[in-house]
Amino acid sequence: MSTEVVRLTQTVAKGGCAAKIAATTLRRVLSNLDLPTQGAGLLVGNHTFDDAGVFQLTDDLALVETVDFFTPIVDTPYLFGKIAAANALSDVYAMGGVPKTALAILAFPLMSLDEKIMQEVLRGAGDSLRQAQALLVGGHSIDDDTLKFGLAVTGLVHPQKIWSNAGAQVGDELILIKALGTGTLTAALKRSFYTEEDIAEAITSMMTLNNIFDVLSAEDLGHIHAATDITGFGLAGHSWQMAKASQVSMSFSLPSLPLLEKAATALQEGYLTKAHKSNREYTQDHLQFQGDWQEWQKLIFFDPQTSGGLLLSVSAGSSEEMLKKLKEKFPRAQKIGKVLPAQGQAKIHATL
Ligand code: CO
Ligand code: CO
Repeated sequence: MSTEVVRLTQTVAKGGCAAKIAATTLRRVLSNLDLPTQGAGLLVGNHTFDDAGVFQLTDDLALVETVDFFTPIVDTPYLFGKIAAANALSDVYAMGGVPKTALAILAFPLMSLDEKIMQEVLRGAGDSLRQAQALLVGGHSIDDDTLKFGLAVTGLVHPQKIWSNAGAQVGDELILIKALGTGTLTAALKRSFYTEEDIAEAITSMMTLNNIFDVLSAEDLGHIHAATDITGFGLAGHSWQMAKASQVSMSFSLPSLPLLEKAATALQEGYLTKAHKSNREYTQDHLQFQGDWQEWQKLIFFDPQTSGGLLLSVSAGSSEEMLKKLKEKFPRAQKIGKVLPAQGQAKIHATL
């Protein structure tokens, strides 16, 4: 089989972060288990829905650890590898950390796919790691029915400079650094409504590293109170996790939400994933749409992102200047909302 004829999205049932196990299912499973999730040295564990675990080594050094892998969301093996690696590295950036090393996780159907495809996936991942100045130090591979690829990434952070989900402050403004819509666009690609050329903006966006250290000064970084990356649970799921951890509410206005080219059409045409439904179920008690929303507009909140942008909670006075700098590298960065008092329970308000 040659690499030219295989469309990777056609070899799997579900793609990308949309294949994530629903948050409600995970919560149910985990609630019946007593796992060793607390202990000395642990700065960020799994109870604040954070992007990565953080473990303190010394007074000024902590490890950031995360893992992410999934099935193909695009057809071209090199692009899949590059996106999967950018997506895995993102959780380190989302904690304020700098990635240092990575281990590859690879499941590959040797029976049905040429090993050149494996090589291309790894070459793509290598290019993302090189951009991040992180080293590939090993990995593990198995022969499996479907292709899956990702990385376990280790980074470093100063223990006082961690961006947890729990730091958002009332009055902060919320900046999203990438446009939304990768879930519906890659669903449309998989079902041959769009080609990779059609969704070029989404592919470029997914390959872009969420490294904001390149464009922001140390002073700017000090004005970021909390951060997370918008991935499989969508804007609704991840913003609610941040709101809940920070004990605040948030409001987003539809006109300010950046949407990838052709994503509106894909949503209107009904190119959806299982995650659109499970993300809606996960957040329905905490999300209020005010005004007369069209169905496809609501779906923007539930669209599962792969390698989505960082959502930054930033002190209001510095958000304008920070946005200007972010736009140099992230042209679709936008102020999308505000942090409000919780008034009881953390809520997400969506306004027209
Ligand atoms: Co994340
Ligand atoms: Co993740």
